[in-house]
Amino acid sequence: MIKNQWIKDFPQIKNGNVYLDTAATSLKPLAVINTVNHYYKNLSSNIHRGMYEAAIETTEKYEETRETVAKFINSKVDEVIYTRGTTSALNLVAYAYGFNNLKPGDEIIVSELEHHSSFLPWQYVAKKTGAILKFIELNQEGRITTEAFKKVISNKTKVVALTYVSNVMGYITPMKEIIDIAHIYDAIVVVDAAQAIQHLAIDVVDLDCDFLAFSGHKMLGPTGIGILYGKERLLKQMEPFQYGGDMNEDVEKVESTWKRGPQKFEAGTMPIASVLGLKTAIDYIENIGVENIHNYITNIHRYALEKLSKIDGLTVYNKTSETGIISFNLDHIPSHDAITYFAQNKIAIRAGQHCAKLICDWLGIYSCLRASIYIYNTENDIDKFVETIKEAIAYFKELGF
Ligand code: ALA
Repeated sequence: MIKNQWIKDFPQIKNGNVYLDTAATSLKPLAVINTVNHYYKNLSSNIHRGMYEAAIETTEKYEETRETVAKFINSKVDEVIYTRGTTSALNLVAYAYGFNNLKPGDEIIVSELEHHSSFLPWQYVAKKTGAILKFIELNQEGRITTEAFKKVISNKTKVVALTYVSNVMGYITPMKEIIDIAHIYDAIVVVDAAQAIQHLAIDVVDLDCDFLAFSGHKMLGPTGIGILYGKERLLKQMEPFQYGGDMNEDVEKVESTWKRGPQKFEAGTMPIASVLGLKTAIDYIENIGVENIHNYITNIHRYALEKLSKIDGLTVYNKTSETGIISFNLDHIPSHDAITYFAQNKIAIRAGQHCAKLICDWLGIYSCLRASIYIYNTENDIDKFVETIKEAIAYFKELGF
């Protein structure tokens, strides 16, 4: 039996519910919920503005989170920008960097594994600037390889925008090797780390990525807060993405100036409670250890794949995945029909295209079911999940599917 000492920290796990949808959003430990509650109960105030006690404490805590994030990914504090989530972070790069640095004929490299938030902003920027989108050819398993990357990169490449871990296939991209190659060509690399940050140790100095984006809500934190890491040199060159309160230095009728640090990109009131909650989430993860989390997930994942391999009437699309994501279909059963059976049995998984239509096209499917494993899942959850699959196959067969 694989030991688990964390379930008790997650109040949403009760009454036999099985939560296998962390790739969509993670559950929140009580510590994170308490931090958010504490802010609303005791500290409600804005940051960088008030001079009263609550406002000063809130501002200090808000900036403390930035330090915690910086330490977590080994960046400088001024390289950490708060955003609404991964989507806003990646849009910020596309707008504030892409529009000002790309010209007709420049090339942007992406892949069919991208989540829409790592693809659509660049598709839009390409259309508007005349830049050209290039796709890395995926290998037979559907993976990004350095060999295929070398075939598509050229002196025309200016931006490489790739997922670190695919939200459908769960594959880990050989990111460090790709970044090293991209830099030989002077291209910048934008990493979508939304499905990596919660279980892979990320050191932005070692990785040498130019930008890296992730969301709080997929790493035990609240919704509404994401992080964009950007190299200081690049952030300094970039214009703000949004304009408004708290991002300006001086405002005049004709010309205005902007704050120098990450605050230049944080116009308006930010999701303060979520920023505070993110610190608690990172503390929680660090207390367990990212490597321990990854090992735990992969052990449960291995257990699940072994059980699934014994069932007929099921196709798993990513059997070699090294993370906790299992994408599959029950043969001949549309995923949106199948999902109802899981829901009735209190098993939370996701059906659909997972905001990643291009990989569904590549797989030759309209949509699929996806189960995703995290630290609050156990072998018992997998047993229930597998039994439900067996029952669902029998049930739909009887209905004539
Ligand atoms: N991007 C999230 C997912 O993969 C919502 O489900």
